[in-house]
Amino acid sequence: MKIAIGNDHAAVEMKMELKKYLEELGHEVVNFGTDTEESCHYPDFGEKVGRAVVAGEADCGVLICGTGVGISIAANKVNGVRAAVCSDTTTAHLVKEHNNANIIALGARIVGIETAKDIVKAYLDAEFMGGRHQTRIDMIHEIEKRN
Ligand code: RB5
Repeated sequence: MKIAIGNDHAAVEMKMELKKYLEELGHEVVNFGTDTEESCHYPDFGEKVGRAVVAGEADCGVLICGTGVGISIAANKVNGVRAAVCSDTTTAHLVKEHNNANIIALGARIVGIETAKDIVKAYLDAEFMGGRHQTRIDMIHEIEKRN
């Protein structure tokens, strides 16, 4: 799988470790930064990864900031993005199965690296269930069209 990854200054170390882990699992990881701990602005990276995923330049995305919240809010402003913040593996597989989340977001100040790896793996291993869940996703796209 081709995975777009992005983060702010709060999550550089976690990004590097997750990137290495994902590559060890055999995935191709496209890094949208940031790679330094100099203070930056998470919306820049949420938008970049969101646009790459919606454009089909990556199969899905991983976003990380301090809580996972700010960067996911930014990504969700891009039409077609369904970014979900996850702090546990149950949520991680359900956001793929039910919501067909195309981006998973993590908080580097919330979860440790081993939990973060498990969360991303649970998300990547899950499959969208379709059916009634597709109906609801179609409804979300209709909301975007009304904006
Ligand atoms: C940066 O200090 C922090 O606000 C950011 O990483 C994130 O937690 C925002 O949601």
